[in-house]
Amino acid sequence: MAEKNKNHENPGGVADTGHVWDGIKELDNPCPRWWLNALYLSGLLVVVYFILYPSLPLINGSTKGLLGWTQINEFKEDLAKTEAVRAPHEAKLASATVAQILADDDMRSYAIGSSRVLFGDNCATCHGAGGQGGPNFPVLADDDWLYGGSVDDIAMSIAKGRMGTMPAHEKILMTDEVDQLVQFVIDNSNGVANESGLALYNEKGCVACHGGDTKGIQMMGAANLTDQIWRFSGEEEQIRHTILHGVNDASDPKTRLATMPAWSEKMAIMLEAIAYAVEDGDDPNDIDWDDELDGSESERLTENEIKKLAVYVHQLGGGQ
Ligand code: HEC
Ligand code: HEC
Repeated sequence: MAEKNKNHENPGGVADTGHVWDGIKELDNPCPRWWLNALYLSGLLVVVYFILYPSLPLINGSTKGLLGWTQINEFKEDLAKTEAVRAPHEAKLASATVAQILADDDMRSYAIGSSRVLFGDNCATCHGAGGQGGPNFPVLADDDWLYGGSVDDIAMSIAKGRMGTMPAHEKILMTDEVDQLVQFVIDNSNGVANESGLALYNEKGCVACHGGDTKGIQMMGAANLTDQIWRFSGEEEQIRHTILHGVNDASDPKTRLATMPAWSEKMAIMLEAIAYAVEDGDDPNDIDWDDELDGSESERLTENEIKKLAVYVHQLGGGQ
């Protein structure tokens, strides 16, 4: 049994606890004063905190505390402050067209600033954080556009979604025709003339979508075949794959899949109605929206969000 040594034989005359390990004694020094004070103070703070803030968990929530503070209230206050700052900008955006937002310095910088998070949350999974694209997803940060690079075209791409289709040609073309077309596509992208290839391109109907100038017909979302910017890949085997199996051709299991989801059916209808009105020389303000919309249109992003994103994407690369 350990026995306390009180006869003050220890250094400094301090009592020990009677515990000895390998000849080393445990002395019974009191704790330093400053340390004890800090301990008592922290105990006191617990009591003060307990009185002022929510602390004890109960069955339905917790004790409330005198200050009435809650995390959710703090969050709501912060949110209200941010929204108060944003509200006038959002109101201005709501009554402007995308083109007007782009042309106005204030609205444009607000739109771009508040779109980074929006783009990160909704678009970056497919198009990359900086719009750099991926194996099956087009680059948004360049000046090559399948569906047009005007800010209106971009807004339409986002609102309506896009799904370019190219039929599979495996059953239509002979092997040597495929070889010739692959070579033509490669030559064409390098600016090398290939008369027989071009003739086959016209004869086999590629011209219907990729156009007489081979730059791609925008309405079809057909790729530009005159440049080195590849929607999929410039490798010979990959070009062959596209020609044989097409893009979004449901009848071919090896087809390339490429779907841009629609973000607002409602806004797509509105943009189309406005475009028709302008084309016909009518005032878009006269459009009867009750007539155009029945209220059941889906909307994954609001109109303002799409306007902002269109301006954002437009400045990522070379909008037109
Ligand atoms: C599920 C993947 C996916 C998501 C998410 C997605 N996109 Fe796309 N996007 C695509 C694909 C695929 C295409 C090309 C469609 C085609 O080839 O016909 C495309 C095309 C586009 C185009 C047209 C490009 C051109 O060259 O004309 C724009 C603009 C665009 N996306 C913007 C966005 C924005 C902004 C968002 C976020 C709100 C977004 N996308 C979210 C897959 C996606
Ligand atoms: C019905 C329209 C249509 C026809 C016909 C068509 N294409 Fe396409 N093609 C497209 C579309 C649309 C794309 C782009 C798909 C996308 O990005 O979603 C495309 C993409 C391509 C690509 C990929 C380009 C790249 O940048 O990666 C090649 C190569 C191509 N087509 C070659 C041809 C050839 C050769 C023919 C004729 C045998 C042909 N296409 C016929 C619509 C068509």
